[in-house]
Parts: sequence; structure tokens; C-alpha cells
Amino acid sequence: MISQILRDARKYEEEMEQTITKEQRPDFHLCTRVGWMNDPNGFSYYKGEYHLFYQYHPYDSHWGPMHWGHAVSKDLLHWRYLPAALAPDSGYDRDGCFSGSAVVLPDGRHLLLYTGVSGETQPDGSSKFDFRDPKMWQKPDGSYRCVVGNCTEDGDGQVLLFASENGIDWNFEKVLAKNQGRFGKMWECPDFFLLDGKAVLLTSPMDMLPYEFEYHNGNGTLCLIGSYDEKTDTFVEEKDQAVDYGIDFYATQTILAPDGRRILIAWMQNWDTCNLHTPAQPWLGQMTLPRELSVKNGRLYQTPIREIETLHGEEVRHENVTFTDVIRLKGVEGRKMDMELTIRPADMANMYHKFAVRFAQDDTYQTSVSFRPHESIVKVDRKFSGSRRAIIHQRRCLVNHQDGEIKLRLVLDRFSVEVFVNDGEYVLTATMYTDPAADGISFYADGEVTMDVVKYELK
Ligand code: FRU
Repeated sequence: MISQILRDARKYEEEMEQTITKEQRPDFHLCTRVGWMNDPNGFSYYKGEYHLFYQYHPYDSHWGPMHWGHAVSKDLLHWRYLPAALAPDSGYDRDGCFSGSAVVLPDGRHLLLYTGVSGETQPDGSSKFDFRDPKMWQKPDGSYRCVVGNCTEDGDGQVLLFASENGIDWNFEKVLAKNQGRFGKMWECPDFFLLDGKAVLLTSPMDMLPYEFEYHNGNGTLCLIGSYDEKTDTFVEEKDQAVDYGIDFYATQTILAPDGRRILIAWMQNWDTCNLHTPAQPWLGQMTLPRELSVKNGRLYQTPIREIETLHGEEVRHENVTFTDVIRLKGVEGRKMDMELTIRPADMANMYHKFAVRFAQDDTYQTSVSFRPHESIVKVDRKFSGSRRAIIHQRRCLVNHQDGEIKLRLVLDRFSVEVFVNDGEYVLTATMYTDPAADGISFYADGEVTMDVVKYELK
């Protein structure tokens, strides 16, 4: 039985999506059908298609009573909306259907597990908000595990592990990981998986303190890499890092694709910067590009899913371009592209001071990605992207490079840039809602830079 609340939402989204043109949306990043989107939910592969649900408030471009939006895709790039899947229409979720996950049961049913929010506090007096975002998966032996975001009574984040034989009846196993005052407070949206011989715990801590060049996002994304003992379900941490060093990134969720790839997607916004849009903006909220994960030398690497190559249009190549000051290159412009830049000093004895690529550019606007080899800093800056608010517009990342040589792969999709540094060693993500007519690209060097450019327009 479908409730009236869900029926109303479905009718509303179907009508209202027509009012947003194709040009007002990203092309191959999933955005909300209408209104507001936050976390990815229920990322799963069911009956030959990827399913992605999302935190959804169709009626406004700001957060509100949470529904689950729903979309499907065969390649994670071309998405088709399905009717909203959940609405806050039952006693146990009347204040919102918060984040959760999905698996496919052996009998062919698609099981969704989510956080139902209702006004009552728990009997023990702990906050109803501090137990949420179940992420479940099936183990090779057929049993299920689930991690849940939680915090202790004094507000310190932790991840709880549950186990189930059938996906329906769950037992608490243990506290899988504890913050112990290190990374922010409440831990939201946990995920846990084995990859390249390591165990990876992802979570999004609220209220993080910056530490050197890590964790500058307030609400950030944390990756703990370590080892895992299957028999005792024990996770031992070895390393920590941020997942993304840009401005707009939060609440990751991964899937194990049928071909064995571990693919991550995240909300391409952040709570600190998502509430300053004008009412004129008819929607807010997109997902990142799905990213293939790997662990190398104790670090999480992310690369754009390889399916993006199927969108590659015309190739433009410029090799060994040596320049100082500002240049533009033939065939390099636009707001949708996959472009790799390899930067190095023209003269090893004379290190350049700064390199920058500026895009979404016209006489008024630009967004830039810059690199300063003396400081080893890559910076994304969207100060001139049209915002009239004095909020955070830039973020920096400390990177590795060999004598000023660095690779920057930029994926642009009208309203966003994702920068993959050194084949995915670091990623910086930012949205920019600059007028799409601003589609210029220029390159800047303080000092003498030699650069290779391989650019594909994206169809
Ligand atoms: C993370 C989060 C989740 C919660 C959801 C509510 O962004 O706060 O913890 O389930 O959003 O929309």
C-alpha cells in the first residue's frame, strides 16, 4: 500500500521536474529530481541496473522532511529517475526517512534498511539522532553485516557493528571503531569494506577540528585504513586521511560492483556551504562522479569510473607547451570535459612559483585550480564563481610531487569540478553555480612551466 504522502510526493516530482531544463542541470552527475538532495542511500545493483536512492526533500531546495529519491543507471553516468521510494508516512519515520543502504536478498527481493526518525527519544535518554545511517553488506559466507553511525553519551563518535543471518534479524556485535576524541564528534554515514588486502572504514564526522592540512571541512569525510580479523570482527587502525580535500563533499557510500570494483559516490555538497543559495535556484544537491577505489602504499586512491571514457568526444592534445604568464589553447574551452594536465618546470634549475588553470571563465567569473611547487599546495578557488556571500570559497591540499612535476585531471560537468591529483592520490571537489555561458579556460604560470594537455569534451 502506497501512502497518500508518498503519492503526493510522486505526483509533485513528476510535474515539477519539467520546470527545470536540461541546461540547468549537470549532464552526467545525478542531481535531485526537484528540490533538495543530500546523502546517497541504498547504492546497490539490482536486476541488471545500479540503483541509487538519496536523501530528498522534493518541496523545497532546502533540507526538510526526508524522503528517498530514486534513480537507476546501467553505467553510473546516464541516470533515469524512478518515483520517490520512501516518504515520512509511518509512525516510526514520520519525522524523516534518514540515510540507509540496500542489499539484494537470495529470494530476489531488494531490501532497504534506513533510519526512521520519530519524535520520541530512546528509553535510555540518548538522543534519537545519534544512531543512524546503517550500511549493510553480504559476506561471502552469505551472512550479513551492518555498520551504524553512533556516538557515546558524551558525544564522541563511534561505529557499531551488527550481524544477521538473513538480513532481517540483527544482533549487535561490537563497537567496530572509536573516535576517542580525535576526529570530530558524531560519526555519520559509516561504510566498511576490504580492499587490496586492507580494511577500509569510511565515515563522515561532524564538527571536525582541522589538523595541519587534513580535515578542514567542518563536517568532513574520514578514511581509516587498517587490518581486519574476519573471525573476531576486529578492526585495527593503521592510517587516517581525508577522503576529499575540496569544498563540497560529504556522506560517502560505496558499492561492490558485479565486476569486483569498489565504487564510491558522495553528496557533492557540504553542510557548511549548502544553505546560501537564493530562492531562485530551483534545486540543490548533486552526487559526485562515481569513483573507483584502491589502496596503494597505505592511501586511498580514487579515479573517475572508467565508464566515463564512453562519454569522451573529440580529443584535443597539446604537448610540451612552454609558457609564462597567461595563455589559452585552441580547442580548450567548455563546461563539460575530462582534461588531464601534466605540469613540470621548463627548466629544472629554475623552478616556477605557481601554475593555475582557470575555467568557468569570462570577463567577470572564473574558478581556478592552482599549484605552488615550493609549498607543495594544490588549491581550488571559486571566489569568482558568482557568489555574493563571504563564505568559504577555497581549500588547499598538501600534495606529493617530484621536482615540480604534477598531474591534475579535471572533470567538469557544468556546475562542478573534481580534481584528481597524481592519478587519484588526492581529490578536490567543488561545485560552482557560475552562469554556464562562462566557459573560457586559460592557463597561468608565474615562472616558466611546460605542460601537456589531453582534453576530451564529454558527450
Ligand atoms: C548526513 C546526515 C545523516 C542523516 C541524513 C539526514 O548528511 O545527517 O546522518 O541520516 O543526513 O538527512
